Amino acid sequence: MATNFDLIGREDVNDIEAILAISNRDVDAVVSTVKDNADAIFTWDYEKGARPKLNRLYEKAKSSQWNGETDLPWDTEVDQEAVVLANAGGNVNPLMDLSDTPFAKWDERDWLRFGVESQNWTLSQFMHGEQGALLCTAKIVETVPWIDAKYYASTQVMDEARHVEVFAKYLDTKLSGHYPINAHLKMLLDDIIADSRWDMTYLGMQIMVEGLALAAFGFIQSMTTEPLLKQLLRYVMSDEARHVAFGVLSLQEYYQGLTAAELRERQEFAFEAAVRMRDRFLQQEVFDRMGIDPKIAVPLVMQAPERQLFQAMLFSKIVPNCKKLGLLDAADGWLRTKFQELGVIQFEDWADTGEEYEMFQLANGEINGQQAGEAKQPA
Ligand SMILES: [Fe+2]
Ligand SMILES: [Fe+2]
Repeated sequence: MATNFDLIGREDVNDIEAILAISNRDVDAVVSTVKDNADAIFTWDYEKGARPKLNRLYEKAKSSQWNGETDLPWDTEVDQEAVVLANAGGNVNPLMDLSDTPFAKWDERDWLRFGVESQNWTLSQFMHGEQGALLCTAKIVETVPWIDAKYYASTQVMDEARHVEVFAKYLDTKLSGHYPINAHLKMLLDDIIADSRWDMTYLGMQIMVEGLALAAFGFIQSMTTEPLLKQLLRYVMSDEARHVAFGVLSLQEYYQGLTAAELRERQEFAFEAAVRMRDRFLQQEVFDRMGIDPKIAVPLVMQAPERQLFQAMLFSKIVPNCKKLGLLDAADGWLRTKFQELGVIQFEDWADTGEEYEMFQLANGEINGQQAGEAKQPA
């Protein structure tokens, strides 16, 4: 039986010292190489629609393409400090008492700069994550044995290229700086790419990374007062909902044929991914840049009530999707116990993304082939 140490490199999931000891030490690199161990698979079974739900997703994806250059209002002026201030309701000072901490010496300007850096950091990590999705989906085209899934995955490759493109353009033209990839996110993406089993790409990317992205984008989309970012996220989310649904639909079928021992390996991978993603949201690089020791800052930040809410909410899609796939309760409920330890089990009965996506399709009456119709008015 694998221990926490085997899976995530530490016994205590909340060991701040161990979490912060992992950082990106290769910040000037232009490329990073990961060994992709998987077999590329041809299929000679070309029967389109043998998996009707995947076929419907593919047809939907073809008529829901949008153009990141021309469909977004790039002429929108973005005053980043004004946006940070507006998003905070006019007050950038945190609600909690920080006297006797290194933050006590911060004035309004420092908090404003922190808000700006946080935004640069957040959007940079989204951009890196999108590139991870681009590589993973290209890998799925090669490795999945079903023609309907190869077809669908090829549309997701295009979607992810567009997502990388729009986040990069937003960072370059509207914000004030990039951050290198967070080391926890990079470890997770490397693990997903390196795994030889095709379904692990789906589990790591479509279920875990994209499930979390869908929740995070939704949260920021509803909070931000900046109209260009609001629209950009709305477009991206309409694609992401389809991507997560693709993962749920594909794995549901495949997992039915797995043994308990094989399911346990999937549970362990899901747990590792959940921890890496939680760790990656601690913003350690921002505190470094602001001159505050992350070892002091991160535990303080983790106590803030709004932070705890955000942190938990990130798992609001992942947990019901894992339940739908039977991963919560397989192997004596191992993953259920782990999600309890992480404090995110409360989402288990929320709508899963397969369900949500079908409800969304029904509500929209399938929008007959209207170009980017779904993207322009997503639910
Ligand atoms: Fe994406
Ligand atoms: Fe995606």
